[in-house]
Amino acid sequence: MYAVMSATGNIGSKLANILLDKGEKVRVIGRSSQRLKPLLDQGAEAAVGDVSDATFLTNTFKGADAVFALIPPNYAADDFRAEYNAVGANIVKAIQDSGVKHVLFLSSVGADLPEKTGVIKGLRDVEQRLNKLEGVNILHLRPTYFMENLLANVGMIKNMGNMGSEIKGDVKFAMIATQDIAPVAADHLVKKDFSVKAIHELLGERDVSMYEVTKIFGEKIGKPDLQYLQFSAEDSKKVMMDSGISADVSDQLLELGQAINDGLIAVKQQRTAENTTSTSIEEFADFFAQVYEIS
Ligand SMILES: NC(=O)c1ccc[n+]([C@@H]2O[C@H](COP(=O)([O-])OP(=O)(O)OC[C@H]3O[C@@H](n4cnc5c(N)ncnc54)[C@H](OP(=O)(O)O)[C@@H]3O)[C@@H](O)[C@H]2O)c1
Repeated sequence: MYAVMSATGNIGSKLANILLDKGEKVRVIGRSSQRLKPLLDQGAEAAVGDVSDATFLTNTFKGADAVFALIPPNYAADDFRAEYNAVGANIVKAIQDSGVKHVLFLSSVGADLPEKTGVIKGLRDVEQRLNKLEGVNILHLRPTYFMENLLANVGMIKNMGNMGSEIKGDVKFAMIATQDIAPVAADHLVKKDFSVKAIHELLGERDVSMYEVTKIFGEKIGKPDLQYLQFSAEDSKKVMMDSGISADVSDQLLELGQAINDGLIAVKQQRTAENTTSTSIEEFADFFAQVYEIS
C-alpha cells in the first residue's frame, strides 16, 4: 500500500491515478472526502485530516510500503519557511513512529543551495530533517519550476492584457509539466530503487524564456501580439499581494525570481536522459488555452 499526501493536488492526484491504474493499493490523504471522491471511486482508501496533525499522519503512514510526502504550499502564510519546517517535523515524526521504510519527498531544484532561493529554502530544510532519519530510504525528487505556475497569467491577460512577472523575459530556464513528475514518482515508489538520501532532479523538456512562452501562449489563445513585461520587484509584489499571497511569500517568490534571473537555479543545468521529460511548452499551451477559455 502506498500513502499519497496532497492527493487532490497537481502531482498527488496524478500519482494516485497512476498507482491505482497499476492495480496498487493507495491511501489518499487530503482534508476533504468530497474532494478525494474521484480517487475513492477508483478504489483508493481515504485518509482525511490535516498535515498539522502528526498523529493523523502517523496513523496514515502505518502499514505503507512507501510514502509520497509533500509539503502543501500555503501562499497566505506569514512565515512560509517556518510552516514548511513545522509540517516537515510532523512528517519526520510520522515516519519514525509509523516505521515506514521508503519515502519519496517532493522537493525542488535549488534545494542544494543554502540561500537566495526564496520559497525553496524550506524544502532544503525539510530535506535535511529527513536526511537525519536512520534506516529509512529517502529519495528527494527535485523538479524544476512547474508550467502550472504560468496559469497565474490567465487573470493577468484578462485584466491587464499582458503577461508579466519579476523574471527577465529573455532568460531561458527549465520548466516542467506536473504530468511528467507523477510517472517518475510512481516508478520509483513501485520499484523502490532508492536508498538513503538519494536525489533525482527533473528539468522538463527544454529551457524556455518568458518571451518564448508568451509568444506560444499568445498564438494559442488568438492573441499573437501578446506582450510579456518584466515587472519591478515593487510592482510584482503588489500584483502578488493583490491576488491574496502574503507579504512573506511574495518576498520569497521575488527572491526565487532573482535566483532565476541570476542563473543560480534552473538555468544552464546540464541535461541528461534521466532529468529530461517529454511535455513541451507547446503541448502545455493547449491546457493553458483551455483554462483561459473557461476563466
Ligand atoms: N510550483 C513550483 O514551481 C514548484 C517547483 C518545485 C517544487 N514545488 C513544491 O511542490 C509542492 C506542491 O505540489 P503540488 O503543486 O502538487 O501541490 P498542490 O497542487 O498545491 O496541492 C496541495 C494539496 O495539499 C492539500 N492540502 C493543503 N493544505 C493542507 C493541509 N493543511 N493538510 C492536508 N492537506 C492539505 C490540498 O488538498 P485539499 O484541499 O483537498 O486538502 C491540495 O490539493 C510544494 O511543496 C512546492 O514547494 C513547487
